[in-house]
Amino acid sequence: MAVNFNKQNDVSFIPSFFKKISEYIKSTTVWKSIFRVGYPDTMPKRMAVMRSSFYMHIFPTKVGIHGMKLKYGWCMGGITFFLFLLLSITGVILMFYYIPEEHRAYNDMKDLRYMVPYGVVLRNMHRWGAHGMVFTIILHMIRVFYTGSYKPPRQFNWIIGVLLLTITLLLSFTGYLLPWDQLGFWAVTVGTNMASSTPLIGYEGPFSKYLGIQIDNDIRFALIGGTRIGPNALIRAYVWHCIGLPLIATALMVFHFWRVRKDGFSGSM
Ligand code: HEM
Repeated sequence: MAVNFNKQNDVSFIPSFFKKISEYIKSTTVWKSIFRVGYPDTMPKRMAVMRSSFYMHIFPTKVGIHGMKLKYGWCMGGITFFLFLLLSITGVILMFYYIPEEHRAYNDMKDLRYMVPYGVVLRNMHRWGAHGMVFTIILHMIRVFYTGSYKPPRQFNWIIGVLLLTITLLLSFTGYLLPWDQLGFWAVTVGTNMASSTPLIGYEGPFSKYLGIQIDNDIRFALIGGTRIGPNALIRAYVWHCIGLPLIATALMVFHFWRVRKDGFSGSM
């Protein structure tokens, strides 16, 4: 529906006193330094708003009606990003209550459930948010594949996406050990045992013996800080989970979004 901006902008019913104040405020340097373009009542002004705003500039100045429809993109990239933000915020709050120490970790989880006000809500938001992110990232990937958006010129962004998927799965995997319960302990034992079969860098993998790789210098040893899951594995999982992987994911996401802008969103054609 066409919107008549001039009609909307008609403020003649406002008493002239308020009108003068409003005009004075809008003429000040402070106002102009924040709102550079003015009321976006023309197409060039609307495009200038998109270009000059810190937040809006991540969106294209024009998007086709086809690409705006929910059925095109399912908004799955956006929902995945929203879940990442939710996980970052709840994760930082969880850090106030959780100590990655083998005699404390499990009890801290129990305290969150039974002692900390709304602790169980906080923990479940983090846990279900993580499951949700794995689910939505897969749906996003399916949508990109299904609409052929991985084809040139977006092939490099697909590769960045594959890295983001790997980081997301690693975030889930490292988070799994942190409650220090039987489920996480044995899941990470099995997972890291599989790493020891990696070609060249796992001590049980093909060709590794030619490189002098042994049980105490292979990839599994690097991951868990020893030959068995113990306190070293817990602190390594914690640091990767809370600092290393989120930083890498953030950098990749910034790059991913920038590329969507530069390649052009496939739905806007
Ligand atoms: C943390 C994970 C991810 C986030 C937050 C994310 C976010 C986004 C967003 C917001 C968009 C633009 C709008 C949309 O399509 O929804 C997008 C586009 C895109 N994503 Fe992702 N994405 C992620 C993972 C992936 C993965 C795993 C792949 C593929 C392996 C991928 C490939 C692409 C491609 C090729 C585009 C351009 C699509 C187009 O122009 O139609 N992304 N992503």
